[in-house]
Amino acid sequence: MKAIVRTQPGPPSVLRLDPSYPKPAPKAGHIIIRVNAIGLNRAELRSRNGDPPAKPEFTSDDLYTETPPAILGEECVGIADDNGGSEVIRKGDTVAAYFCGIGKAFDGAYAEYTRVPARYVFTLSTTLPWGLLGAIPSTFMTAYGSLFRALHIRPHDSVLVHGGTSSVGTAAIMLAKLEGCKVAATTRQKSKVDSLRQIGAKAVLIDGGDESLSKQLKAHETFKDGVDHVLELVGPDRIADAWACAKPFATVCITGVLTKVWALDKWSPAEGIETGKKLTTYQSARDLNSESLGEGMAKLVKDVEDGKIDVKGGIGLTLNGLESIIKGHEEMEADRVTGKIVIVLD
Ligand SMILES: NC(=O)c1ccc[n+]([C@@H]2O[C@H](COP(=O)([O-])OP(=O)(O)OC[C@H]3O[C@@H](n4cnc5c(N)ncnc54)[C@H](OP(=O)(O)O)[C@@H]3O)[C@@H](O)[C@H]2O)c1
Repeated sequence: MKAIVRTQPGPPSVLRLDPSYPKPAPKAGHIIIRVNAIGLNRAELRSRNGDPPAKPEFTSDDLYTETPPAILGEECVGIADDNGGSEVIRKGDTVAAYFCGIGKAFDGAYAEYTRVPARYVFTLSTTLPWGLLGAIPSTFMTAYGSLFRALHIRPHDSVLVHGGTSSVGTAAIMLAKLEGCKVAATTRQKSKVDSLRQIGAKAVLIDGGDESLSKQLKAHETFKDGVDHVLELVGPDRIADAWACAKPFATVCITGVLTKVWALDKWSPAEGIETGKKLTTYQSARDLNSESLGEGMAKLVKDVEDGKIDVKGGIGLTLNGLESIIKGHEEMEADRVTGKIVIVLD
């Protein structure tokens, strides 16, 4: 089969097309997926570079490895080509998989076929085109999990998305807006302000500018007292500024590490967390072990079909063919895209 392989750690050019990589063999308890669309993720950029992952990026500690497989790609949608004896998934079903070890603990989705443990494969009942479906699994499920399973947002709440132009950030803005929340979001680039407004951000703050985020936020009438929830996607080392945007009794959820820093930096919880404010995290890979995630995925797909979520508005770039993954990595590396990069296979 054709696959994009990582030849060594490094820039996008270390990714090369291999026209005759061995197709995964059928295995009991595993689904072979004929890949139709691939969503790119920031974690794949880190793996490509050889940055070590963190344990919570794996479904369990025993899967942890610092060395990524030859084929990266942590999510895909496609058709079940072999069901490995599953009683739930049939050959020919439309399926999705993400963050269950593909492209991290074993060969991933940058290929015509990939093999995934059946327990982590979602069956999707939908006629959405691959180019839209490919943008949903990891990104919208991470946004969904962060907002509803970690932060517990409710209608009329206010939410700050720190790292608003990331794929997870744009999805979170849309989902929070759909829930009836007032949303503020950040970017480092003034050129991206309009795109954040278009997808529903009521206030857009410039990160790293002359004024702190909290000063910019509180200048808006709607957010003058701060926000009820902060979704932190930039990183724990940048949390102090976002934290200052949180109201008393607000909750802050650390989901992202765009700065690639996993730990709090010289930030004392005793000084930073006033009584009543709460800190939580969301880790998709760990949450995949929960039984109830399928309902969330089904609801997201239905909301997209019903036109309640404009998933197209959350896609920054769609490319065609396996080889375009290299171009996708170049765009991601340069932070040129607002939202998700989707690769559609022929
Ligand atoms: N916990 C989980 O389960 C989970 C799941 C998925 C993703 N994540 C994490 O969530 C984050 C977002 O992932 P993604 O795939 O959505 O990212 P992405 O789409 O690749 O995000 C790209 C955007 O992030 C911003 N950015 C990049 N580096 C930054 C930095 N050093 N400081 C501030 N902003 C920076 C840039 O926006 P501007 O230039 O506009 O500022 C850039 O355009 C990542 O850290 C990813 O690893 C976590």
